[in-house]
Amino acid sequence: MPTGRDAPIGMFDSGFGGLTVARAVIDLLPGEHLVYIGDTGRYPYGAKPPADVRRFALELGRSLVDDFGAKAVVVACNTAASVALDELAAVLPVPVVGVVGPGARALVHATSSGRVAVIGTVGTIASGAYERAVAGTGAPVSLVSAACPGFVEFVERDQTTGEEVTVLAQRLLAPVREAGVDALLLGCTHYPFLSGVIGDVMGPGVRLVSSADETAVAVRGALEAAGLLRDGGTGTHRFFSSGDVARFAELGRRLLGPELEEAAAWPETGATKGE
Ligand code: DGL
Repeated sequence: MPTGRDAPIGMFDSGFGGLTVARAVIDLLPGEHLVYIGDTGRYPYGAKPPADVRRFALELGRSLVDDFGAKAVVVACNTAASVALDELAAVLPVPVVGVVGPGARALVHATSSGRVAVIGTVGTIASGAYERAVAGTGAPVSLVSAACPGFVEFVERDQTTGEEVTVLAQRLLAPVREAGVDALLLGCTHYPFLSGVIGDVMGPGVRLVSSADETAVAVRGALEAAGLLRDGGTGTHRFFSSGDVARFAELGRRLLGPELEEAAAWPETGATKGE
């Protein structure tokens, strides 16, 4: 297993959503090797009890370090980052980067009016993680939050346009529209795949903000700080799924791009997956 700078960045999400973060990391850090696990066998995380999500996150984080030699772990899932980031950072012997802090920073930079919103899964919104993260930026903004149950399932079904998802978006985003915000954080890594529908519903006066680019910058910062940045060369990219591997490869390639050449089953041995 390669070590030090040549070890891969490990990344996980409940499914395809974290590929938005993987895309940004590959674009910003083309020399880095990447291992991505989509836990499609147990998705969605958003409505699950926080204790279950925490257990999945610890299992995935440990597997990335122990089985793949990851030099850093990126929690490319807001739901998991909202409830498990501190615990992951405490138990894993490598830098751990989440999406909530970077998302909050990107959001407060995007607003002119100071009225902002975040949408996410039920688990993310209920956790209050974004209230804490936005307050932690010190920016004088007022934040509206809304859960959007159902959005993730549309993405996982590859149904990112059309009447059904538009009708749901109109209903779920109504309180956000009424709040008169000028910036909306897509606080679930699946949601950038719905940005066409969400943008149409919110209208041109609202800037949609994704945490992906800011997270990639945070990953670079964490690697630099640890002396682990792999500058130069071409990275390799490996993708794993705990669900239907062929489907993960096929849809994942369309969502991420040509770097997703193939996918394999996780866990590789069947020994580390919980029920
Ligand atoms: N991409 C995950 C997130 O950012 C989706 C969670 C889910 O599986 O419901 O929260």
